[in-house]
Amino acid sequence: MNKKLYISTYGCQMNVYDSARMADLMSPLGYSLTNKPADADMAILNTCHIREKASEKTFSELGRLRNLRRDKKSRDEGDMIIAVAGCVAQAEGAEIMKRAPYVDMVFGPQSYHHLPEMVAQATRGVGHILETEFPVEPKFDHLPEEAIDKNLSAFLTVQEGCDKFCAFCVVPYTRGAEFSRPVAAIIDEAKRMVAAGTREITLLGQNVNAYHGEGADGKSVSLARLIKELAEVEGLDRLRYTTSHPLEMSEDLCSAHRDIDILMPYLHLPVQAGSDRILAAMNRRHTADEYRRIIDKLRHYRPDLALSGDFIVGFPGETDQEFEDTLQLVRDVEYAQAYSFKYSPRPGTPAAALDGEMIDEAVKSERLARLQALLNEQQLAYNRSFVGKEIDVLLEREGKREGQLVGRSPYMQSVFVPSPSHRIGNIATVIVREGNANSLRGELKPGSVADAA
Ligand code: 5AD
Ligand code: SF4
Repeated sequence: MNKKLYISTYGCQMNVYDSARMADLMSPLGYSLTNKPADADMAILNTCHIREKASEKTFSELGRLRNLRRDKKSRDEGDMIIAVAGCVAQAEGAEIMKRAPYVDMVFGPQSYHHLPEMVAQATRGVGHILETEFPVEPKFDHLPEEAIDKNLSAFLTVQEGCDKFCAFCVVPYTRGAEFSRPVAAIIDEAKRMVAAGTREITLLGQNVNAYHGEGADGKSVSLARLIKELAEVEGLDRLRYTTSHPLEMSEDLCSAHRDIDILMPYLHLPVQAGSDRILAAMNRRHTADEYRRIIDKLRHYRPDLALSGDFIVGFPGETDQEFEDTLQLVRDVEYAQAYSFKYSPRPGTPAAALDGEMIDEAVKSERLARLQALLNEQQLAYNRSFVGKEIDVLLEREGKREGQLVGRSPYMQSVFVPSPSHRIGNIATVIVREGNANSLRGELKPGSVADAA
């Protein structure tokens, strides 16, 4: 029987990848994806714990699903299995079971390969299932071979977990210790993705540049080496990786940005703050100047590298001057884009215990507004600097307007062009006409894309 699976995904790209793998795992059981939760035979909330009020959002979404299940039953259309996955499940599994006893299963990111068994158990009515241990056997060994993404641009998880323990962050607790997949498994998956039509792969990991997977000779392989091997995969045109830690920006990875053609000139390298005292309190283990020097080195190897970052304002104890140091760092680096957040305490993390030093909400909001104004200014200036230039764009999908396609530049900008849809899948040369806050507009260079494609 054809059953419907609804997956609601929050948070990072790792969750997007995990949701796609869960859909792959469920397809042999007769489940196909739906975007209408009301019709679902099974609904999975793949949650994120990093943002504020993550658990409240999960509970309100769960309440909505419970009502949809009740309505579905009253229409005589059968039951709905309700599952919570991801980092909120990992961190607050027992609490979810207690507060939302109608939930059938709760499982953490390290357990989703057990999904078919858990679903079989749930349909046999064995009661509630809670799986938030970190199992000994890594989940990647248990994923179906045919797990491939059919997207032109797709994610591939190469590393999971984090041992860095930044004082504000839950990831080391929800995703566990660092784990790297072996090189051969990654190359195989990349080849299957390319055979299915993928042209751009983004290597994913919470701490991706700490990658140290096992190579063919049993020895440990760095991310730079892995990238070199992936660059040999026939038919793969573009590679990216995210998210990186400054301390792991090794010499070979920096120079890979010069040496590997298909490695795109874009790097997300969070720094979080520009004051050395705050960086130390955050347990980042590097100074602002050390970060500046890493950026200089990267730009030495790849002068056109586009940089992105993450920032936290109002970390406990942050003074006005320390916040000014963050603004100064942003001015020095000049970001192509960035993400910025107000600090919010995550239960169980060391920073959450700094009760006496919490910064006023109003101060945090004001700092965030100033930082974002500066970042937006830089992003607009960056995008405007492309006007009149030619860039390569992987045409990925139709845009909102009729007769318009959208794709990504090497520098991660969204680029809109007027074009018929049969050109999707090509890398075309685009002449940029307009640089806006969040995207570029342009036109295809005549003859740069084959019409027979
Ligand atoms: N408060 C605010 N921002 C946070 N981040 C992680 N934890 C917190 C927190 N407790 C931000 C960091 C990280 C990004 C993914 O989320 O900037 O790099
Ligand atoms: Fe969290 Fe990233 Fe720090 Fe790891 S390196 S603890 S994932 S912020």
